[in-house]
Amino acid sequence: MQPAQLLAMLAAGEPLPGAGLAAQAGVTRAAIWKQVEALRTRGVPIEARGAAGYRLPWPLQMLDATQIRAALPASMLRSLGALEVHWELDSTSSELQRRGATAKDFSIVLAETQTAGRGRRGREWLSPPGMNLYLSCLKRFEQGFAALSGLSLALGVIVLRALENLGIDGAGLKWPNDVLAIATGERPGGKLSGILVELSGEYQGPCAAIIGIGLNLRLTPALHAQAGQPACDLATLAGGAPPDRNRAAAVLIEALVEGLRQFERDGFAGFVDDYARHDLLCDQPLQLSGVHGAFDAIGAGVDARGALRVRMADGSVRQIDSADVTVRRA
Ligand code: BTN
Repeated sequence: MQPAQLLAMLAAGEPLPGAGLAAQAGVTRAAIWKQVEALRTRGVPIEARGAAGYRLPWPLQMLDATQIRAALPASMLRSLGALEVHWELDSTSSELQRRGATAKDFSIVLAETQTAGRGRRGREWLSPPGMNLYLSCLKRFEQGFAALSGLSLALGVIVLRALENLGIDGAGLKWPNDVLAIATGERPGGKLSGILVELSGEYQGPCAAIIGIGLNLRLTPALHAQAGQPACDLATLAGGAPPDRNRAAAVLIEALVEGLRQFERDGFAGFVDDYARHDLLCDQPLQLSGVHGAFDAIGAGVDARGALRVRMADGSVRQIDSADVTVRRA
C-alpha cells in the first residue's frame, strides 16, 4: 500500500476505523498504521479518534489531471505541452530540468509532495502532500535572457490575477515576487506564494525559463512553525475553506499561460501598472541587505526593468537588482 492511497481514502475528512481501511485496501492494520505514520512524517496531521478511527481535520481533494483538464478551456488545453500530476517528486522544477530539450513549451508538472522543494536563495520549500500546490511550467523565449527582465515580477502579478479569479482578495506583492496576505486587525499577514524562475540557454538567443510556483492553500500549525517566516494560506483569506485544489490548479495554469503570452508580447511594460497597484513596499520604511551592504531606505516602486527603487535619506533614488528586503517596524 502507498501513502497516496491512504490519503485518498481519508480525503472526505470523515473518521474511518483502521480495520475498515485495512479491509478496503486489502492490507493488514499494521500496514495502515505504517502509512499513517509515513503521512504524518510528511506533515499531514492525521488524527486518531479512538474507535472511530483515523481522520483528517478537514476534507481535501487529491490532485487529478483529468479534473484539472476538465476545468480548462479547450483552446488552453491545446496550448499545453504536457499536464502531469505526480504523487511525489524531488522538485517539480528539477523534473522539468531533467526533460531538457525534449520538453515542449508550456509543459506543466504538478506534484502532491516534493522531497527537495527549492525556494529562492537556496532555501528549502516545505511541500507536504494534500494541502498546497507545487507546480512548474517550462516556457521558451526566442530573444534570450536579455529580453526577460521583469519576468519574475510579472509572475507575481500573474499569481495575484489567479487569486482574483478564484475570488480571493487581500493579497499583495513584496519585491521581487513574493505574494503576501495583507495583515488586517483580525489576522497577521504572511507569505501565500513563492515563485522561483530558473533560466537556461543564451543571453541573446533561444532560452528557456522553468517557473516554479508554490501556493499555500492550507497550512498546519507545524508548517507555520517550520516556515522560518510569517506564512498564510488561502483557507484563511477565504474565511475557512480553501478553493478546490484542482480548480485552483486550473485557474493558476490559465493565468500562467495567458500571462506568459502577454509577457512574450509586451514584456514587463504590460505588468508594471498592475505591479504598482499591488506593491506592498511602496512608501514603506525598508531595511535592505545584499551586495550593497545593509542600509535603510523608503520604497519608491519598481522601474521598467523590475529593479526595486528606493529613496535614501538624502533624497536620492537607488535602483536595487538583488537584496533581501524587510519592512522596518516602528
Ligand atoms: C520562494 O522561495 O519564494 C520560491 C519558492 C518556489 C517553490 C516552488 S514549489 C514548485 C517548484 N518546485 C520547487 O522545488 N520549487 C518551486
